[in-house]
Amino acid sequence: MPRTVLVVDDERDANDILAHLVRARGFEPIQVHSGQEALTEVSRRRPDVILLDLSLPDINGFEVCDRLKRNRETNLIPVVMVTAHHDAKERAAGVRVGANGYLIKPFTPEQLHAALDEAIAWHDEHQGRGTTGEINFDVRSELTYLAQVSDMLADLFAHTPLTERHIKDLKQAIMEMGGNAIEWGHRKNAELVLRITYRIDPNAVTLIIQDQGPGFDPGNIPHAASEEDPIRHLELRNELGIREGGFGIMLARGLVDKFWHNERGNQVTMVKYYGEAPAES
Ligand SMILES: Nc1ncnc2c1ncn2[C@@H]1O[C@H](COP(=O)(O)OP(=O)(O)OP(=O)(O)O)[C@@H](O)[C@H]1O
Ligand SMILES: [Mg+2]
Repeated sequence: MPRTVLVVDDERDANDILAHLVRARGFEPIQVHSGQEALTEVSRRRPDVILLDLSLPDINGFEVCDRLKRNRETNLIPVVMVTAHHDAKERAAGVRVGANGYLIKPFTPEQLHAALDEAIAWHDEHQGRGTTGEINFDVRSELTYLAQVSDMLADLFAHTPLTERHIKDLKQAIMEMGGNAIEWGHRKNAELVLRITYRIDPNAVTLIIQDQGPGFDPGNIPHAASEEDPIRHLELRNELGIREGGFGIMLARGLVDKFWHNERGNQVTMVKYYGEAPAES
């Protein structure tokens, strides 16, 4: 049985072209022409991937994506958003539920095939891990929106075995690391978008906060507190003329079981286990 791809586009020609390319990759296309039809077919057919045009006549692509991702039944079906502009991906109006991938028009057949392959790989990886849910939020760089996301996540955490204490800790860790992304990564430029990913696995929740900034070297921040000498940096900050502080990373690190930055330093991953954390491998 070939895997199925739901093709959602109201323009008939564009829809047919997408379907043709989908078939050329060995998938079976299911073609629909509106947002409402898309939602109906998703629950009827459970496609393996959804190719979703952003501009639809009834319910726009962002709204369709939001509904699919907030629903536990459809949350793990990868959504590839097809848009005419980069803007759709890179500008966020407040808080938006993100797609798994974005395909910017005009695209080549190779780009479409790569997007389909990535979507399938994402799904298979999650299936293998036993993931029960994952959601991305694209967030405009403002503290009020960050707080909104942190509240929404706390509601989602309530469906996991995490205790109230853990949930409070995670909210604080999100505010600290999201705050860093806005203040240091984005230099408070509200046009930039923060991506916050939240995943529920059988034994833990994972939070990933990514900014579009230049990153930094987490191994070399003398103006931040360290466990060995938590106040030495205060003098240095004074000399450097940086505002008081320097405790965020140390604090967040202590609130979760695993904590690491990517190599560039613009993405932090935090893991909290429901029970005891497994020993470091
Ligand atoms: N996303 C980021 N992009 C670039 N630099 C960062 C980022 N996150 C942290 N940093 C750097 O790491 C330093 C330490 O961060 P930390 O959160 O520990 O302290 P702070 O933000 O300076 O102060 P506080 O969090 O206590 O208000 C920051 O001052 C900044 O130089
Ligand atoms: Mg900070």
